[in-house]
Amino acid sequence: MNPARHLVLVGPMGAGKTSVGRCLARHFELAFVDSDQEIERRTGATVATIFDCEGEAGFRTRERDVLADLLAGPDAVISTGGGAVLDAGTRRNLARGGFVVHLHADVPAQLQRLARDRSRPLLARGDRAPILARLATERDPLYAEMADLVFEPAPAPAQDAAQRLATLLESTWRRGTLAAATRATQEPAA
Ligand code: S3P
Repeated sequence: MNPARHLVLVGPMGAGKTSVGRCLARHFELAFVDSDQEIERRTGATVATIFDCEGEAGFRTRERDVLADLLAGPDAVISTGGGAVLDAGTRRNLARGGFVVHLHADVPAQLQRLARDRSRPLLARGDRAPILARLATERDPLYAEMADLVFEPAPAPAQDAAQRLATLLESTWRRGTLAAATRATQEPAA
């Protein structure tokens, strides 16, 4: 078992990282944080505005910094943006501090889940199917390299998928919490 403090969800846009992550956090009684939402909270700007003003490179720098802070913070379920794994430093930090679950989604499932979404700048221009296919070609090896566990949430509702995933995690993820470590050292010897 992997004794990681954080449970980290990686995977492509539309895989359900945020909705499944919220349910998992409830299950494990952990805080939930989504790196995109944290970037937006800190900057007061949407991801799309950051892409507009600073380009993808500016967004990636913010994403790397936010994830480094989250991984250094309290135990949590952390949902990452689909491109977070592009940064080598982030990959190292995730491997060190998180039990990493790759939420897999194929392009048709992504297209369906994202059909009404207009917030993803990488999908704002051009035909979505080839864009998503190209991103998958670039990123799937990185998700695979990172993953302690690969999980296919679709087509179940997020809550059912999270329940199934939580059951798998009970036997694969041994939480290395600071709280648990502190309790263990304070318990009287038997
Ligand atoms: C991105 C995915 C998005 C967000 C940004 C870029 C990507 O997050 O970080 O639009 O590069 O795949 P989600 O994966 O949560 O949609």
